[in-house]
This record gives sequence, C-alpha cells and structure tokens, in this order.
Amino acid sequence: MSAETLRNELLELIGKNPNGNSDPAIVSQFTAKLLQYYETPGVNEKDVLFSIGTQVYNVDLPPRANKKTKTDPPTIVDFDYMKQFMKDVFLSYGCTEDQAEISSEVLIEADKRGIDSHGLGRLKPIYCDRIDKGILWANKPITVVKETETTALIDGNLGLGLYIGPHCMKLAIEKAKKYGVGFVAAQNSTHYGIAGYYTQMAAEEGCVGLTGTNARPSIAPTFGVEPMLGTNPLCFGIPSDDDFPFVIDCATSINQRGKIEKYAREGVDTPRGAVIDDEGIERTDTEGILRDMVLGKCALTPVGGAGDQMGGYKGYGWATVVELLSTAFQSGPFGEDVCGIDRATGKPAPMPLGHFFLAINVEALCPLDTFKKNSGNLLNALRASKKSPKGPGRIWTAGEPENDARVERTAQGGMKVPKVLQQNMIDLREARPGLKEKYPKLPFE
Ligand SMILES: NC(=O)c1ccc[n+]([C@@H]2O[C@H](COP(=O)([O-])OP(=O)(O)OC[C@H]3O[C@@H](n4cnc5c(N)ncnc54)[C@H](O)[C@@H]3O)[C@@H](O)[C@H]2O)c1
Repeated sequence: MSAETLRNELLELIGKNPNGNSDPAIVSQFTAKLLQYYETPGVNEKDVLFSIGTQVYNVDLPPRANKKTKTDPPTIVDFDYMKQFMKDVFLSYGCTEDQAEISSEVLIEADKRGIDSHGLGRLKPIYCDRIDKGILWANKPITVVKETETTALIDGNLGLGLYIGPHCMKLAIEKAKKYGVGFVAAQNSTHYGIAGYYTQMAAEEGCVGLTGTNARPSIAPTFGVEPMLGTNPLCFGIPSDDDFPFVIDCATSINQRGKIEKYAREGVDTPRGAVIDDEGIERTDTEGILRDMVLGKCALTPVGGAGDQMGGYKGYGWATVVELLSTAFQSGPFGEDVCGIDRATGKPAPMPLGHFFLAINVEALCPLDTFKKNSGNLLNALRASKKSPKGPGRIWTAGEPENDARVERTAQGGMKVPKVLQQNMIDLREARPGLKEKYPKLPFE
C-alpha cells in the first residue's frame, strides 16, 4: 500500500474517533496502520501523524537510528586529531595555550568515554556560538575571592568552564593532600562539560571526589511543569583496584539536554516519561521538545519521573541540593537568571553558573591500597551478583560503561563523527582564522 493511501486511511480513522482515543477498536486499527506507515519507504519522519500517534494513541514507535547507520556510516576520526582540531578552535578564539589544551582535553574525554552528548557535539553550540554571541569569553582570568587552608571561593569571570573546572578541582586536591579535605566553590563560571572529568581527576590522585554544577533551568519540581532547576549532575569518583575508578556521573534529571540533542541528531524519539509539557503531557517528539524547551513550554522530569509514584521527589531533592550548593555559597543566580536569554529583550544573556568541588584524601583516613581493595571487593561483589534473566549480558558498576567505551573506541581507531558534527567542523574551519590553512581537507572530505 502506498504511503499516501495509508496516510489517508489514518486521517479517516482519526476522523471516526471523535472521543479522542477512547474507542479500543479504532485505537488498535490506528496503531497497526501507523506502524505500517512508519516502515514505508520515503515517509516524512516529521509527519504530524507520528506525534498524534505517540501522544494521543500511545503508540510505541521503534527508534530509527539503526536504519540510518546502515546506509550512512559516520567517519571514524582519531582522538588526537580531533583534540588538536578543538584546541586550534579554542586558540583561534584567543584562549592561551594552557586554556585551549585543558578545554579540548575535557571535551575529548567525553568522546573517549562514549558521552557523545558532551564532546565534539558541544564545541560549536555550547562554546563557540556563545563566545560569538558575547555571553561567554574565551580568555578570562580566574580570581580568588576568599581562601582558607581547606576551602576557596573562585571567580571564573565568565570564562570557559572547561578550564575553570579543572583549575578548581586541582586546587581542591592540593588542599586535600595537605589538610585531608579541600572544598572549592566557583562563581561566574560557565558550562564545565562532563562532571566525571573532575571526580576522576580526584580519584586518580587517591582522593574521593565530588562535584556538581547548576545549569539553565530544565527540571520541573515534583507536581510542577515549569522548568526551574538545571539538569544539575551530582557526581562522585571513588578509587578502586579496578583499572578505572568508580565514577557515577549523571544528571539529576532522567535525561540531560545533551541527550535530547543526541536523539535529534540520530533522528529518534525521546523515551516517554522523560519530558512533560506545560499541559502535563508526556512528550516524545524530540524536535518539538527541543523547540518547546527553548520557549519554556517543556520541562525535563527529575530522576524518578513526574509525580511521586516512582519517587520523582528524590531526583527533585538531589537536583535541589546541587542548585543550592552551586549558588548559596556565592549568592549566585539560578533559574531564569541563567537561562541564557534576556526575557525582556529576547537577546542572548550570560549564564553565570556555580560549581562545587570536594576532594577527600583517602590516606588521611586509611591506606590507599586498603581502601582500593575494599571498594574493589564491593564492586566485584555487585558485578558477580545474580543477574536478571531478562536483562542484558551482565551487571556493570558506574564508570565501567565509560571504560568499555574507551577501550572499544580506541580499538576502532577513534570516534565516529556523524554528518551534523562534520558540518559543524566545516563551518568552524571556514569561520575561524588560521583553520582553513591548517585544515584544508578534513578526514571526511
Ligand atoms: N555540565 C552540565 O551542565 C551537565 C548537566 C547534565 C549532565 N552533564 C553531563 O552529562 C553526562 C551524561 O549525563 P547523563 O545523565 O546522560 O548520564 P547517564 O544517564 O548516561 O548515566 C551515566 C552514569 O551512569 C553509569 N551507568 C550507566 N549504565 C550503567 C549500568 N548499567 N550500571 C551501572 N552504572 C551505569 C555510568 O557509568 C555513568 O556514571 C555526564 O557526564 C554529566 O556530567 C553535564
């Protein structure tokens, strides 16, 4: 049956169902036909019928990603090449050598760890475009506002969070090595990338690390629909005798924004339950969600989801903890004041973020080897525990999927660069001084 015929039949079924989705016979016919239509070659993936199907008729459409990758494999690019490219972009904006080095290092680490939402994918939209808009600066000094042996309050002066973050965690570790603990809060920083970079820094130095950051408002409070809290990762790094530390590095929302952007790049729907709109409807239409999030009409749900049935108030509580620790030490802004838009004029506005970094020197309490062995024993016990016959192949502990990704990507010769990111690189190469000469031909050209 042709796509057009199927489409007309679907429209007819909608017309026959004046009570919304209440007629089960029509719902079942609609579902079968929509799935058939979905698989028909040449169908427009953005057809409104799919939104109606998922939102009104609760049809579960399978992701389209596999289809795409089969026909359009992304180019694999070596990590060193990609890091150098990102470093050159930062240098072209006036970063110092040190700033460009560490900023590109934090980004490439995300790609190495398989956190595609926070690596190269963020270079242009989150850093370069914001520098271009004049709401973030590539080269600003880091100043000390207040300092004791064990604490410091740092001002990032709206420079790149990608070099402010490593500076702060390094300071926290230095203090921990001298005095047992170090705690550093940062004000006037900007997006600092993957929180796990910082806790891994601590763990690799024999410390327990903790960090968090606020972000533009995205999460609605339990029983609310208005985006109020950032996706606010709360991240711990704990040394163990595995080849990699335990690093639990995730947002306090079900999905962070970067993951929705990743779904958009892959052309797949957002899983149901992760987003609600201002009518309280759970949305799955990725492109529409991204648009409505900008307009403040959609919110992410906290870990545990909307409402209280699955404990959404727990994620809501942890997101609030992060927002409090990121702002209260320094009377920092939150919510609307870090949304990146001046609502009165509609113009871009700086987003002064706060972060916090804690390092606890393990040796201050216990020999590091003993601690590592103890934590390794526990992690091994978890991995060796009885597995669900329904789950995937094994049980992981946090930090392990990222280590697996690093091993796998290193073996495949680097990272996959999808078409959208290839275009970002081309655009940057064309726009930034010196890049055309250094990169006349990118690996995928
Ligand atoms: N800077 C910001 O404003 C900001 C905001 C939100 C998120 N982020 C970053 O985004 C990245 C991704 O966040 P996310 O919320 O999408 O993370 P996620 O949902 O992918 O979870 C990742 C964490 O869960 C662990 N994990 C995954 N599967 C596991 C399993 N089966 N068993 C045990 N552990 C498992 C991983 O090791 C990792 O620690 C993080 O690096 C985070 O720091 C940054």
